[in-house]
Amino acid sequence: MKVFILGGYGAVGVPSAELLAKSDLVSEIAFAGRNMERAEKAAAEIGDKARAVQVDGADEEQLALLLTDYDIIVNAANNQVALTTLHAAVRSGAHYCDVGWGRDFIAQMQEFSAEARDAGVTAIICNGISPCITNLMGVHAARQLDETEQLQGGRPGVFDFESTQALTPQQWLESPQESLVVLQKFRGFLEWMLQVAQETEARTVRAYQDGRWLEEDTLKSGFHVPLPNGRIVTTYPYGSYDPIFDELPDDLAKERPVCVYLTPFPPQLQDLYAKQTKLTAAGEVEPANAMTSFYETIEANPDRWLTITDDSIAFPLEWVSAVGRKEGRAARYNCWLAPDMWNERVGWLLTSVSLTVTVLRILSGKMQERGVMTAEKTFDPLPYLDEVASLMPELPEDGKLIGESFEWLE
Ligand SMILES: NC(=O)c1ccc[n+]([C@@H]2O[C@H](COP(=O)([O-])OP(=O)(O)OC[C@H]3O[C@@H](n4cnc5c(N)ncnc54)[C@H](OP(=O)(O)O)[C@@H]3O)[C@@H](O)[C@H]2O)c1
Repeated sequence: MKVFILGGYGAVGVPSAELLAKSDLVSEIAFAGRNMERAEKAAAEIGDKARAVQVDGADEEQLALLLTDYDIIVNAANNQVALTTLHAAVRSGAHYCDVGWGRDFIAQMQEFSAEARDAGVTAIICNGISPCITNLMGVHAARQLDETEQLQGGRPGVFDFESTQALTPQQWLESPQESLVVLQKFRGFLEWMLQVAQETEARTVRAYQDGRWLEEDTLKSGFHVPLPNGRIVTTYPYGSYDPIFDELPDDLAKERPVCVYLTPFPPQLQDLYAKQTKLTAAGEVEPANAMTSFYETIEANPDRWLTITDDSIAFPLEWVSAVGRKEGRAARYNCWLAPDMWNERVGWLLTSVSLTVTVLRILSGKMQERGVMTAEKTFDPLPYLDEVASLMPELPEDGKLIGESFEWLE
C-alpha cells in the first residue's frame, strides 16, 4: 500500500517514514514538501520504497491529483495545511492522519466528517504525544473509577523555542555550574511563562478533604504529583489552565479537565520559581524583574539550588490523574509515561510512533469506521499504548508505555 507523507522530511515525518518502511503493508512512501532537495535526500536514506515529491500543502488541486495513486496521506507538516490536505484526501478517496492539536482545529476538521464518511475515507486527527497519547491515558484513567469528578493532566515542560530543545531532569548534570549554563538557555521561556501566569486566571483542581470535594488553587495550595516510586510530592505549578493546550477529553468527568504545568526542576528550585510565579500572578513584580531575581539568587549559590535529587529524576514527563469515586469511596487513579523515556526529543519520537501506529491500523483494514475522528474516541487505550511501546526503539524497562497507581482518599 502507498503512503504519502506531507512534511515527510521534517522532525516528525522522518522517524514515521523509517518505521512505516519496515512494515510489509507498505510498498511505497512519498516524501513530500516544498523543498525537492530535502525530499530527495530523505527518500535516498530510506531506500527502494521511497520517492520524493515537491508540493505545497496549501495547493489542494495539485495534492488531489497526486493522491489519486495513494492509499493514505499523513499530514506531518502542520495545522495550517490540514484542511486543504483533508479536502484533497476526500476528493481522491485517500485516508488521512495528522498530528494536529487544539479545540478549534478539531471543530474545523470535524465539520468535514460527513463528506469524508460519504467518500469512504477514515480521517484520524490529532495523533502524537499530545493530545492522542495523553487523551488515551485520560480515557483509561476515567474508566478506572465508577464516577470521575475531574481529569487532571500534568506536564513539566521548559523549551528553548529557537533550538526547539526541551529541558529534562537528566540535564541536571553532576556539576551545578554546568546546570547553570543549561538553565540560562531557558530564561526566555521561563519569563514568558511568568507573563502567561500574570495574564491568565489559574484554574482550580478538585481535591477531596474532610469528607467533601473542594476547589484548590494550585498556585497557592500546590499540586500533588504521583511519582513512579510510589511517593507523592506536593509541588507548585507555573500555571493550571487550559487556553494553551486544552487536551483532555471533556465528556468523561463532571468538571472540565485541567492541565497543570510544572518545571522539571529539582524541588528546591521549583519552589523558588513558584515564589516568583505567585508574586507576578499577584501583580507585585513584573516578569522581567522576577527573572532577574530568580537568576541572581541561583548564581549566588548554584550548589544549593541546582543539586539534583532522586525525586526530580523520577518526575514523569506527562501524567494524568482521575479523581472521583470507586465503590462509594473517594479515590484517585494516576498514570504516567515511564520516566526513563525522558529526553529532549521523546515528544517528537512518541508523536512519530503514534502516527505510525494509527497509519498501520488504517492500512491493515482494522479500522472500518469512516469520517473525521480523534484518537480518544476511536481507540481502546491500553492496546493502542502497548502497540506504541512495541515500536519504540528503546522500550521502557517493563515493556509498558505507562506506569499506574491507585489511592483511596478516604
Ligand atoms: N501532536 C503532537 O503531539 C505533536 C508533537 C510534536 C510536533 N507536533 C506537530 O507536528 C508538526 C511538525 O513538526 P516538526 O517538528 O516535524 O516540524 P518540522 O521539522 O519543521 O517539519 C515540518 C515539515 O513540514 C513541511 N511543510 C511545512 N509547510 C508545508 C507546506 N505548506 N507544504 C508542504 N510541506 C510543508 C516542511 O518542509 P518545507 O518547509 O520544506 O515545505 C517540513 O518538512 C507541527 O505542526 C507540530 O506542531 C505535534
